[in-house]
Amino acid sequence: MDTEAKADALEDFMMERLNETGSGKGDSGKYPTMAEVEAQIETRRHRRGVGNLFLSHTGNVKKLPAMPAKPTLADFFKLRFNVTSNHVLQSANLAMKNGMSEEVILACLLHDTAQELIKVDHGWWSAQLYEPYVSEKVAFAIRYHQALRFYADPSVGYEYPDLYRVLFGEDYKPEPYVEAAYQMVRNHKWYMEPRMVTVNDLYSFEPGVNPEIEQFTDIIGRHFKQPKEGLGFDNSSVAHIWRSIARPDSPL
Ligand SMILES: [Fe+2]
Ligand SMILES: [Fe+2]
Repeated sequence: MDTEAKADALEDFMMERLNETGSGKGDSGKYPTMAEVEAQIETRRHRRGVGNLFLSHTGNVKKLPAMPAKPTLADFFKLRFNVTSNHVLQSANLAMKNGMSEEVILACLLHDTAQELIKVDHGWWSAQLYEPYVSEKVAFAIRYHQALRFYADPSVGYEYPDLYRVLFGEDYKPEPYVEAAYQMVRNHKWYMEPRMVTVNDLYSFEPGVNPEIEQFTDIIGRHFKQPKEGLGFDNSSVAHIWRSIARPDSPL
């Protein structure tokens, strides 16, 4: 993707969320309430948790380019992670600039990519997708960034995101399973792994900064066990998930 296309993709990523609840704060200049967010469900033809690959908010979906016979992670970034790639590349780039460990940088690079398939519980879905290929610590960071996003940690400068007031409603309280996950992670020795994903999980688009997947080739090489048969064809427990991302136009 060229620079402009990337900026567009990031904007899509943000706008898709804002569009879901109208103009963000709304005419009154206030964030919506949970009741207002819920009232919008029956105004749509789709459910909000649908993955980016399966829906276009701007006209018909486009034909996707063919995947190589033995697809790598980089192939998925270039050919399928169309809406999420710029956001996660920006996050990983920021984590690199902030001197994070290679495992945190990798977790940032992967953290939201399962949103191409499904947005609901995307931390858990993303972690499952990558679990056979990354360390336990990286999978932990990916899985729990989702829960930690709802909880501020002033000691590392992480605040509750305004975007979530728009998406969930200003009076939203996280589901009990999210609260329980947070409490568990808060006391876990690896707490800072997912926390650092949230710290570097920014939606801001830095002008002139357009990280490419190649910037992370070495980190991927050291920390991602690319299957020789290609992602989707290694008979792993998640191969079908990779195939579903590769072939979203398949009717069955
Ligand atoms: Fe996320
Ligand atoms: Fe993110």
